[in-house]
Amino acid sequence: MPHNLLTMTQKRPQPNPGISEISPYIPAETEKKGIKTIYRLSANETPLGPSPASQDAYKKAVHSLAHYPDGNATLLREAIAHHHGLDPRRLICGAGSDELLTLIARAYLTYGTEALHSEYGFLLYPIITKAAGAQPVMAPEKNMTTDVNALLNRVTGQTRVIFLAHPNNPTGTYLPTGQLCYLHKKLPPHILLVLDAAYGEYVRKEDYTTGIDLIDRAENVVMTRTFSKLHGLASLRLGWLYGPPSIIETLNRIRGPFNVSSPALAAGVAAITDHAHINRCLSHNDLWLPWLTEQIGALTLKSPPSTANFLLLDFDNIPGKYAADAHAYLEEKGINLRRLDAYALPNALRMTVGTEDANIFTINMLREFLRQK
Ligand SMILES: Cc1ncc(COP(=O)(O)O)c(C=O)c1O
Repeated sequence: MPHNLLTMTQKRPQPNPGISEISPYIPAETEKKGIKTIYRLSANETPLGPSPASQDAYKKAVHSLAHYPDGNATLLREAIAHHHGLDPRRLICGAGSDELLTLIARAYLTYGTEALHSEYGFLLYPIITKAAGAQPVMAPEKNMTTDVNALLNRVTGQTRVIFLAHPNNPTGTYLPTGQLCYLHKKLPPHILLVLDAAYGEYVRKEDYTTGIDLIDRAENVVMTRTFSKLHGLASLRLGWLYGPPSIIETLNRIRGPFNVSSPALAAGVAAITDHAHINRCLSHNDLWLPWLTEQIGALTLKSPPSTANFLLLDFDNIPGKYAADAHAYLEEKGINLRRLDAYALPNALRMTVGTEDANIFTINMLREFLRQK
């Protein structure tokens, strides 16, 4: 049937192909009726909150609410550039890194094209790929870590984008620099490699790179970052992308002209210049991530080696001791972890590094859960 006739016979407006196939993103659960969450460890948020300076900047921004924000995010781009030693002209800010990833999909994917992601890659990638009319293609992982050869084997003439969470959520694993460079080297220059380094600040590995050096010498790599995790500004929706000038120019053409609000811009500048708070948050993670890793190992739960601010807990296949049982048990105690059914990991949970009290209490409750008959 010709397209115009088809649309005339439809009873109601129809979304573009692919959109009805999307399973909507399932956010971390909030409080259930009748159960009080004392420790929310389900959304990879910082346990230390935002910097006091960024809270003050946010409050001061109340005086400019009648005005449109700076659509170029000039001060924030300069502050980010200064902090990371980057060229501010190669930065673009967005309402969360979500928005920037979505803009990438919109600009570089279309009907008949494909985007690659790895097996347990961040849930958003297939969603934004389908929303752009393209086909998500998944490459299996090895030991819950991206497998470069599996990704490369799935590159076809239709591939346009590779989304790589680096380190990945929910596994916390990363690709050593050598493997990342190999992946990039093997890609034809028209395929865009998107390095999503939402948790990049937390990684303490000599052989890890957020990809800045790659981006400086290639035209087909970008990196996205967020203020939602380390900087504790998740509710403000603020992220940024570093990339080659041609990609920045493309994304600037299609983004909303005022995509980041003034309070978010002001809080972002204050957050990235508050080095004392940044260091406090990093030191906290440096202390508690290894502690939790060790404790979880002692409980004999399997967990891939995480480099981020969370851990994946893989439960044994024992009736009564499944992840769902642990989740319910912890919830009763006021601890909220993230279920991972949507990642096809129904017998695993993800735990964010929390405050000292939260971490100790959660480990104690997990031990109690595993020991009870
Ligand atoms: C890997 C990864 N990328 C991107 C995001 C989105 O972050 P934002 O809050 O900046 O949209 C998240 C959030 O959980 C994430 O885990």
